[in-house]
Amino acid sequence: MKFFVDTADIEAIRDLAQLGIVDGVTTNPSLIMKSGRDIKEVTKEICDLVDGPVSAETVALDAEGMIAEGKELAKIADNITIKVPLTWEGLKACKALTSEGFMVNVTLCFSANQALLAAKAGATFISPFIGRLDDINLDGMELIAEIRAIYDNYGFGTEILAASIRSANHMKQAALIGADVATAPPNVIKAMASHPLTDKGLEGFLKDWAKTGQKIL
Ligand code: E4P
Repeated sequence: MKFFVDTADIEAIRDLAQLGIVDGVTTNPSLIMKSGRDIKEVTKEICDLVDGPVSAETVALDAEGMIAEGKELAKIADNITIKVPLTWEGLKACKALTSEGFMVNVTLCFSANQALLAAKAGATFISPFIGRLDDINLDGMELIAEIRAIYDNYGFGTEILAASIRSANHMKQAALIGADVATAPPNVIKAMASHPLTDKGLEGFLKDWAKTGQKIL
């Protein structure tokens, strides 16, 4: 499973990139707002840091507007993925942009039927939002499983990009189901490394090591 980082925070991306685990980045208007930066400026910096796809989201509501905005965003760098919403207009924009060779991430997907349409419209990535479904007492992970089954039934090439991930457990479940990509905030990716027994074990080893009076360096 590829790891994308769901943030426009340059330092956080740089920190994770040191480990070589950042396969891409996703941003959205709320994340750009949170960064307090200019969209083109910050997205360019992200593209310079990361080789993989960097999603930049359009804000127009009509297909024509999304296409124009998407092409403008794509000028930032070769690894830009144009993000459009899963509306009828967004699907039209997806079809037009992918036909011209642009990568498109269709976002705000909340049903298997929406995902099926996005694949038919040639989406590069489909972004089902797990956490926001869980928030309204629906099963976000079940949606990932449904899309996996449908895409596998017909051999669709659209990659399932599990989004709105809120916990390390979401990451594990997405990987078990076979999501192609998971995009998560930096704190969630870091939380994957934590286990209380690791901390306890380390504490015990260090106590015993101190008793030996030895040094490695
Ligand atoms: C994905 O591309 C979105 O930016 C993101 O995952 C949304 O997550 P949220 O529901 O936590 O805002």
